[in-house]
Formats: sequence, structure tokens, C-alpha cells
Amino acid sequence: MSTRQLLVTSALPYANGDIHLGHLVEYLQTDIWVRFQKLRGHDCLYVCASDAHGTPIMLRAEQAGMPPEALIEEVADRHRRDFGEFLIEFDNYHSTHSAENREIVERIYAALTAGGHIARRSIKQAYDEARGMFLPDRFVRGTCPKCGAQDQYGDSCEVCGATYAPTDLIDPRSVLSGTAPSVRESEHLFFKLGDFAAMLQEWIGAGHLHPAVTAKLAEWFEAGLQDWDISRDAPYFGFRIPGEADKFFYVWLDAPVGYIASFLELSRRRDDLDFDAYWGPDSTVELYHFIGKDIVYFHALFWPAVLAGSGFRTPDGVFAHGFLTVNGQKMSKSRGTFITARSYLEHLEPEYLRYYYAAKLGPGIDDIDLNLEDFVARVNADLIGKVVNIASRCAGFIHKLAGGRLAARLHAPELHDAFSAAAESIAAAYESREFSRAMREIMQLADRANQYIDQHKPWVLAREGATAEAVDVCTQGLNLYRQLVIFLKPVLPEVARASEALLRLPPLVWSDLEAPMLDCEIEPFSPLLSRIEPARVESLVAATRTAAAAAASPDAHAG
Ligand code: MSP
Ligand code: ZN
Repeated sequence: MSTRQLLVTSALPYANGDIHLGHLVEYLQTDIWVRFQKLRGHDCLYVCASDAHGTPIMLRAEQAGMPPEALIEEVADRHRRDFGEFLIEFDNYHSTHSAENREIVERIYAALTAGGHIARRSIKQAYDEARGMFLPDRFVRGTCPKCGAQDQYGDSCEVCGATYAPTDLIDPRSVLSGTAPSVRESEHLFFKLGDFAAMLQEWIGAGHLHPAVTAKLAEWFEAGLQDWDISRDAPYFGFRIPGEADKFFYVWLDAPVGYIASFLELSRRRDDLDFDAYWGPDSTVELYHFIGKDIVYFHALFWPAVLAGSGFRTPDGVFAHGFLTVNGQKMSKSRGTFITARSYLEHLEPEYLRYYYAAKLGPGIDDIDLNLEDFVARVNADLIGKVVNIASRCAGFIHKLAGGRLAARLHAPELHDAFSAAAESIAAAYESREFSRAMREIMQLADRANQYIDQHKPWVLAREGATAEAVDVCTQGLNLYRQLVIFLKPVLPEVARASEALLRLPPLVWSDLEAPMLDCEIEPFSPLLSRIEPARVESLVAATRTAAAAAASPDAHAG
């Protein structure tokens, strides 16, 4: 197995709201995959950043009566803490509102301009005279021109599904001022996506995407590759476009550039990282983006084209996942299922959710459901009942019968070998993001370990005075446990750390699977992970519902 070099990203969360369990599908999926690569001995970097620009963030800051720079810092701090406590380990977490990002986006824009890939023309847009600003489509609401449904967004109707321009709405209103918007004209800059049709066909054909995503792209191709508007008029929170008066780069142009900027900032702090080796056109580093299915268009069309058009390398894979539902439905504030990372952490251990998501995740864009009853049952049955239980059953006997010292021989080496032999299949499942298959195979091994212990009954052996045999069986049990810990380490880093401490081992890596630990001392057993009490889940849901009700009450907005 030769060492690979990988650079991995998750989508950059907007710096204007809290991280919730939906977001965590993505950050946990990516973190597990990255930890797996590192465990295998590969040279893998995981970078992310705050997505700090755009109209919603500008307006949110205004509402909060603070400069946007202060808002995005405050939110980014909360995000970092949430991610950290969920054991999501970035090699760097930066911001799109940074010197590095400005540097790269300007470089990209200059290259695209020089290559003739930027067009300019005037467009008509809704304008809020009261607020003195152009309105993004979503900031205009009115009656659907097709079906007459009231209070619909400016780009599409949620009732009949029609798509249109905000100027088509009957009785349009600005959501900011409530006034009827006027129509104004201004000049915008466009990225000529069509210039990259051949390049994109080739890139998509090279198998960088899941078939479900490729199918979606085929539809978009058929509809024709439209020029992409990359400029916005002032007022806007973002980077000014060089050489233009009062024009800013659209947030979605500089957002993915944040992947590069985060790496650039890291590389400037680390002597061993060469920027061009990672981002230059001849890079041999593998580059993967994990994203949600809602932002495929940006990552699988615009982004590779922008990179190719400005002399950077393109991604080797864009991995899209589906959306989270809770108890089979969209997350809902009133049902108490719009659960933030913070409120989860106030009630439950992060590793429960890491495991549950892993047990549910596949490589495709199917939505994944967090069924709260199933969550409790599954985590308790698998993690506590099957895995951690092995350690607690065996470690006690090793202390009681052998002063904490493992036997010098392995009682059933063929079972230990069978676990090692499963490594290839489990690794292949992790690699291809079939985490649910990996978890299933690991739990089948855990079943075998438990069967082994049940069959040899060390408690009976101990009672009958067959001490040496009892110690042999428990030594074997702990060795099987150690192998399970290696398999689960990407998902359960904290359980792994506590298990390494229990077994007095240095940090375990994948290649430690084969050699058993024998004739060595272990620490006294202390609990590694406790059962989920269903009452804790109930209080989490109740707290979420209460918080939502408080936020919705008129008092909450006073002051
Ligand atoms: N800022 C953009 C991404 C820019 S990437 C250059 C964005 N931010 S987000 O905060 O709305 O979402 C961040 C990621 O979380 C996205 O990949 C999104 O798909 C994912 N999810 C947000 N809500 C989700 C669910 N309810 N379920 C699963 N994933 C979800 O988009
Ligand atoms: Zn309609």
C-alpha cells in the first residue's frame, strides 16, 4: 500500500446560523472518511472555512446592529466549537472573508478575463427604492403568475412548481420594506460557462461523480449551459471587483475559492506544504469535495470550469449526500426536531450520532433518516451491547484472575486471523463511502467475538478454578476488541482513545490489526461509553421545541 496524498473538503457553512443535525451529516461523513485515510497511513488534509459573504449575512448583521465582520467571527467561533465537540478534526478552518481568499479570487477573475471567459451586459432586476438596493429573487414575494397562490418566492412557486422571474409575480413585494419593488437596469459580469462544455463533458465522463449525480448533470446539459452572473451591485458584503465601480463578486464565486484559500493559509504556516503541488494544473494530489445534493450545480459545473479556466487543477471527485429527515419528516421547529449541534451536545454524546449516521450512510444522494427510537435502540444494541461490552466483560477478569496481565498466548488464533482477513472488505467499504456496509460487517465480527466468549464462558471457568483458561479466553476477547476498535476508530475516535488508554497502547493504526497484544498489562476497567437513556432524547426534543416556541413569540424580537 503506497502512501497517497489527499486534500479533502466539506462545503463551507454560512456564517449566519447555527450548525444543526442536517449539516452534521456532511461534516461527520467527511470527518469519518478523512480519519479513515489517516488511519491507513495516508497523507490526508481536511480543510474547511466559513462562508462569510452575501446578502443574507449583510442583512442579518444589520438586524443584529453589528458590523458583518463581527457577526461572522462570532458565528465562526460557535461553529468551530460545535465541530470540535463533535470530534470533527479539520487541518484548517479559515474564512472566505480573508486576505488569502481575496488574493485567489482576484487571481481567478484576472485569468478568466484574460482568457475571454467574462462577458458583460445589462440586466433588469427588482429594486427596493425604500432600502436603496437590488433584491435577490428570494427577497421578493408575491402571487404566482401561473396558479395564483399567494406569498410565493420571486424565483419559483412552492404550490405549482412554476419557475419565473420576480418581475413576473402579480403584486410583488420586497420582503425587506414591504413596498412594491421597481425595476432597474444595471450592468453585470458573466462567466461564460458554455466555453467549458467540452471540458465539462470530459470531466464528468471521467467518473468523478456518483451515477445519480451524473444523471442530474445530463439534464442540465440538455437544458443548455447558461452564462453565470458573478457580480452584484452595492450594497453587498463581499469583495469589490477590481476595476469596477461599486460591484462585488457574487458570494458563490468566492465561496468554493475558500477551499483554496484555506489550504493557502495553512501552507503559509507549514514548510512542508507546497501550494502548487496541491493546486497547480499538474497536481498529483487527490482532491475531493464532500457536499450536499442541493449544491451540486455549483460544484460539478461552475467550479471545475472556473478552475480549468484559470489555470488550477480540477477535483478528482465531488461526493454528494442526501438530506437529513428526522422521524421520516423534514426537520421541524414545532415538532422539536430542528435540533442544533449545541442542544444535542447538551444532552447526548457525539459518538452516538457519529455511529448512527455511519450506520445509515451510503455513497449516493438518498436522504437519510434519523429515527429517534431507532437511534436509541441501535446505538445501545450495537455500541454498548456488542462492542464496549466485550471490553467490560473481559478486562474485569484479567484483573481479578491475573493481576491485570494478559496471557502469553492466543487461545483461538484463527478467529483473530479471521478478523484481520475482514480488513480488506471493511476498508473497501469505507473507501467507497459505503459506511453502512462497513458498520454491518464490523457488527457481524462483534457478534462473533461475543459468541466466542459465550461459548467459552470465562465466568464458569473462573468459578471452576480453571484460571489459566479463563485468562486465555479474556485475552483473546480483548484482542478481538482491539481489532474492532481499529475498525471503528474513524467513527469513534474518543472510544478508541479511551480503549488505547485501557490497553496501554500507543495510538492504533490500521496496520496494527495483525499482531496480537500478549503478555502485557492493562489498566483497570473504567466505562468507555454508556447506554443512551431514552429520557435524554425526550428532553432534547422538549428543549428544542421550547427554544423554537420562545424564538417565535413576539417578545423574543423586542429590543
Ligand atoms: N455556504 C454554502 C456552501 C458553500 S461551499 C463552497 C452552503 N452552506 S450551508 O450552511 O447551507 O450548508 C452547508 C452544507 O450542509 C451543504 O453541503 C448542505 O448541503 C449541507 N446541509 C445543510 N442542511 C442539510 C440537511 N438538512 N441535510 C443534509 N445536509 C444538509 O450551502
Ligand atoms: Zn404557482
